[in-house]
Amino acid sequence: MRRYTDRTVMITGAGQGLGRAMALRFAAEGARLALCDVNETSVQETAARCGDGGIRPDGDVRTSVVDVADAPQVDAWVAGTLETFGRVDVLVNNAGVIRDNRLERMTDDEWDAVVDVSLRGMFHCCRAAFPHMKAQGYGRILSFSSMSWRGNFGQVNYAAAKAGVVGMARTIALEGAPHGVTSNAIAPGLIDTPMLASMNAAGRAKLAARVPLGHIGDPTDIAEAAAYLCSEAAGYVTGVVLDVDGGIGIGGAPR
Ligand SMILES: NC(=O)c1ccc[n+]([C@@H]2O[C@H](COP(=O)([O-])OP(=O)(O)OC[C@H]3O[C@@H](n4cnc5c(N)ncnc54)[C@H](O)[C@@H]3O)[C@@H](O)[C@H]2O)c1
Repeated sequence: MRRYTDRTVMITGAGQGLGRAMALRFAAEGARLALCDVNETSVQETAARCGDGGIRPDGDVRTSVVDVADAPQVDAWVAGTLETFGRVDVLVNNAGVIRDNRLERMTDDEWDAVVDVSLRGMFHCCRAAFPHMKAQGYGRILSFSSMSWRGNFGQVNYAAAKAGVVGMARTIALEGAPHGVTSNAIAPGLIDTPMLASMNAAGRAKLAARVPLGHIGDPTDIAEAAAYLCSEAAGYVTGVVLDVDGGIGIGGAPR
């Protein structure tokens, strides 16, 4: 399928993991891409690989070094994307970091790092892109929550930020609805990315054993869901949180 021909897709945190997998998937469906990350080398590597999907990595992909926690950098990224491609159809708020700690040991820096990227970053990107989507009467905003949004031991910062993502996504769904702009969230479970690899191995194994489908997810599982939620076909879907988690969100007895 090439559902994204003549569509411009912006993805934050596109240098690795889920951001890279989604970039490759949108590229394979013909999108023009505006990719950003704090890591210049990795986002350029993602862009180079997008050529394998059949688009021109030198003409159809724009890479930028952007810290989503910094509003002027985000504003410049959106303005530059509009200058290059003329429109913004899809915004994927994917950038995120973890700094796990128990409540009583959590530092202000750990709190700020997580909330600034996932929550403030999403706010900056939505605020900058929304007026253009509204003016053109079409837009798709997809934001990354986590299965942790319902609460997760050792993640007060991350759970709070990811619950905030849900609240913001649903509110933007209401504000965007009269203008053809949808806003949804994906709540991934355990997906095989560098972020998951950075987690405590014992904790990761314990969690993985609880996945009803019996294995951790692949980034392409997320890219598949994103490619649907950001397509024209999903025009009547807004304000949802889609669990892509092998069923771990259901809870229940360990396998
Ligand atoms: N992998 C999982 O199991 C999992 C589970 C639940 C939720 N998520 C969420 O999915 C999203 C992607 O996760 P991932 O596993 O691919 O993570 P990852 O750590 O592998 O990749 C995240 C990317 O974001 C970039 N980034 C970090 N801070 C940034 C900033 N301030 N501005 C711009 N880019 C920044 C990083 O450089 C990196 O390239 C995150 O929001 C994460 O919280 C992941």
